[in-house]
Amino acid sequence: MRGIPVIMKTRTFLIGLALLGALVLGPGIAEAQELHLDPAKVMGPDACGECHKSSVESWKGSHHFSTFKTLPREKEARAIADKMGLKRIKSGSECLSCHFTSADVNGKTKPIAGITCESCHGAGRDWIKVHSDFGGKGVKAENETAAHKVERYKKSEAAGMIRPGSLYQVANNCFGCHTVPNEKLVNVGGHAAGSKIELVAWSQGEVRHNVWYSKDNNVSPIERLRMIYLVGRALDLEFALRGVAKATKKADYAVKMAKRAKKARKRIKAIAKLVDAPELMAMYSAAKSAKLKLNNEAKLTAAADEVARHAQALANKYDGSTFGGLDKVLPKAKKYKGK
Ligand code: HEC
Ligand code: HEC
Ligand code: HEC
Ligand code: HEC
Repeated sequence: MRGIPVIMKTRTFLIGLALLGALVLGPGIAEAQELHLDPAKVMGPDACGECHKSSVESWKGSHHFSTFKTLPREKEARAIADKMGLKRIKSGSECLSCHFTSADVNGKTKPIAGITCESCHGAGRDWIKVHSDFGGKGVKAENETAAHKVERYKKSEAAGMIRPGSLYQVANNCFGCHTVPNEKLVNVGGHAAGSKIELVAWSQGEVRHNVWYSKDNNVSPIERLRMIYLVGRALDLEFALRGVAKATKKADYAVKMAKRAKKARKRIKAIAKLVDAPELMAMYSAAKSAKLKLNNEAKLTAAADEVARHAQALANKYDGSTFGGLDKVLPKAKKYKGK
């Protein structure tokens, strides 16, 4: 189903599972938490590290890695958990879906790390072998046939891999966590109502790991940065609209999400003047068609779906080479977030 964010698909699957569990097995299992990934399919970062050692090294310098150890000890985290009525941060809590990666270990689902490779590239069980098999034992990348490569990518994606080439899909994950779409967590827990995330600055600092196709961890090429910028701005709008759609009370969460949506909408309109891509004005018009108010879920969700459709079309159609008009608004290297 195009237009439905990846993160929602996986979540729906797990909520479904929890409900089914409640019906079949009684109330105990109904506590199964909403997780970002299917824990039965999570391999963990060590499995990726067998081949992607340098990616793991750079990941270890990020907050995504360190949150696993640091979060449960923080006063601020404890305060949020207390207000939410949560005894433990790392066990069965609402913190799991964004701060941790959970996997099934010896028949038990438990958090094994912070935000990991699979949080962004998809749970690996069904594609980890496929994506790295160039055509049987002994066949190296340079000897792979073109047809096999096409087939390999197709099979990997069908098995749940989110490849960096699918910019909309991979970036979708960032906004699913970083807009903090959880009303109770914000209103009751007092959690930050979303990050001020701009995708170029936030992906090219501590999160950057361009260490596979070349070793130097260079900043992504300028054409790519332009596409990252556009897709990021579009996703910000999409998720803000989804956030307002789900709001039920006139309180911090709804107010901040509506502000976010308004700002994101304005930005898209401004960007549309800098580049020749009709998809941007189409996004703006779609967003404008739904009022940013409570009890407007159907219209806001339809608008968000429409924004998503145009964002995917944009990501698939252009390569950034004609978008030089954006260069003056791209963040400078000193604004990159983290190391
Ligand atoms: C057995 C070795 C091996 C393991 C284990 C492995 N990979 Fe890979 N990975 C590769 C190879 C080889 C490639 C290059 C494929 C190519 O050139 O298309 C690759 C490519 C990738 C790419 C880039 C694909 C693209 O489209 O450019 C990503 C992302 C990736 N791997 C993620 C992971 C993650 C996440 C894990 C753990 C769940 C993992 N890999 C485990 C060998 C491995
Ligand atoms: C919907 C996703 C999401 C959920 C669920 C979530 N967080 Fe967060 N949290 C974030 C994001 C994103 C940030 C980073 C905000 C920033 O600085 O931009 C963050 C940051 C934080 C911070 C400040 C950074 C730090 O590590 O000191 C604390 C504390 C925190 N979260 C606690 C919690 C607790 C406790 C829970 C569970 C009750 C929780 N969070 C659930 C997304 C989430
Ligand atoms: C926060 C999300 C996120 C996490 C965590 C993450 N990746 Fe990525 N990964 C991306 C994005 C986005 C790109 C594309 C970057 C670009 O083109 O600028 C990417 C690119 C890659 C590539 C291609 C790199 C290249 O040289 O072009 C590989 C391989 C990869 N990731 C593997 C991994 C592995 C292994 C891990 C865990 C150690 C990991 N990733 C963790 C989001 C993530
Ligand atoms: C599964 C949820 C999740 C996903 C997916 C995710 N993040 Fe994060 N990210 C977080 C949380 C939670 C934190 C805060 C961790 C902490 O400090 O405790 C964070 C922190 C960060 C930070 C450090 C922020 C700071 O204040 O220093 C950056 C940069 C970042 N994320 C960028 C990204 C980008 C770019 C992507 C997508 C390519 C992404 N994240 C995907 C949850 C996520």
